[in-house]
Amino acid sequence: MAIIGAGTWGETHASIYREHILADVAAICDKDKEKAQHLADKFNIAQVYTDYNDLLKYSDCDAVAIVTPDHLHADIAIACANSKKHMLIEKPLATTREDVYRMVEAIEKNGVRAMVDLHNRWSPPFNTAKQEVASGKLGRPVSAYYRLNDIRWVATDMLPWASKSSILWFLGSHSLDTLRWIMDDEPEEVYSVSHKGVLKAEGVDTTDMYMTTIKFRKGGIAQMENGWITPNANSCINDIKFSILCERGKIDIDASSHNLIQMTTDEKVTTPDILVRNDVFSQCKGFAYESIRSFIDKLYSGEEFYVSLKDAANTSLAMLSIFESSESGMPVKAELL
Ligand SMILES: NC(=O)c1ccc[n+]([C@@H]2O[C@H](COP(=O)([O-])OP(=O)(O)OC[C@H]3O[C@@H](n4cnc5c(N)ncnc54)[C@H](O)[C@@H]3O)[C@@H](O)[C@H]2O)c1
Repeated sequence: MAIIGAGTWGETHASIYREHILADVAAICDKDKEKAQHLADKFNIAQVYTDYNDLLKYSDCDAVAIVTPDHLHADIAIACANSKKHMLIEKPLATTREDVYRMVEAIEKNGVRAMVDLHNRWSPPFNTAKQEVASGKLGRPVSAYYRLNDIRWVATDMLPWASKSSILWFLGSHSLDTLRWIMDDEPEEVYSVSHKGVLKAEGVDTTDMYMTTIKFRKGGIAQMENGWITPNANSCINDIKFSILCERGKIDIDASSHNLIQMTTDEKVTTPDILVRNDVFSQCKGFAYESIRSFIDKLYSGEEFYVSLKDAANTSLAMLSIFESSESGMPVKAELL
């Protein structure tokens, strides 16, 4: 593997490849040399680059993990495809329609394999819900509700590029992919309203919150809530609530206030994010790691990835319709692959 983007999540990728028996990190690239060198030293990575074109020319890797900010995946992915490298692209696939089409074309034309890290499919409660709905026991899905919010700190402190992206890309990509997957359907029409002001007042010029209604092609309906202004004192970074109502049953998930573990100090009550990622005897556990591991497994075995390129492309394309709706104040038909 080669890793492009040596930030927070690039380090996560490096930990997984180091542990995986079938993988090794041949090279790392960041336009900030110090960041690349820091991870190279920490993970014993031999080659360090500041230009991804040099990495593609000289590193001799089989596949690339693209872990740059949301709006900077497209050109890198196209260069990887043209260099015949397989790739694991961090979510979202891309943030413009033009980029989605350019990437799909380059990947298909070059015959390389690509997966986008829409990892919520590996979350135990969501994966179980998918299996139950797919079994048919509950009948067809009628409606779903999905709240996936972050505390304000994510936008103000964690992501230096929050104002260049959106909570819809950062978390909404997971919500929308999960809804499409569990409903086993594609959005037909979307309507979204949004609120701006709280983060702008703190110097981060990005929308606070979106409320989106989705009508699916087979008739199911869903409400999707994505924001990043949950108070910082919330016991978990994420606030996750999901429910799906089918013809003959329903499933409810509360993955953030799960009551498995709670930690209390004089300052704060915390619910550690153990379903997402944790270490057990220095090994990476949790669904955020499983998706990355799965990429290696499937690349090696030649089997289909659990997230197809079409899944990732349609998630980005439907999201762009959600942006259009929130800007125009009108429902928008989703134009998908
Ligand atoms: N799957 C998940 O749950 C999850 C979690 C966190 C982040 N992510 C995704 O991972 C990606 C990176 O997020 P992050 O939090 O690590 O961001 P980050 O800002 O910590 O790191 C991004 C790095 O990319 C580097 N970079 C930017 N342009 C580059 C270029 N042209 N060439 C080489 N390096 C370049 C930056 O210098 C920076 O070090 C985003 O798409 C984000 O949505 C996914």
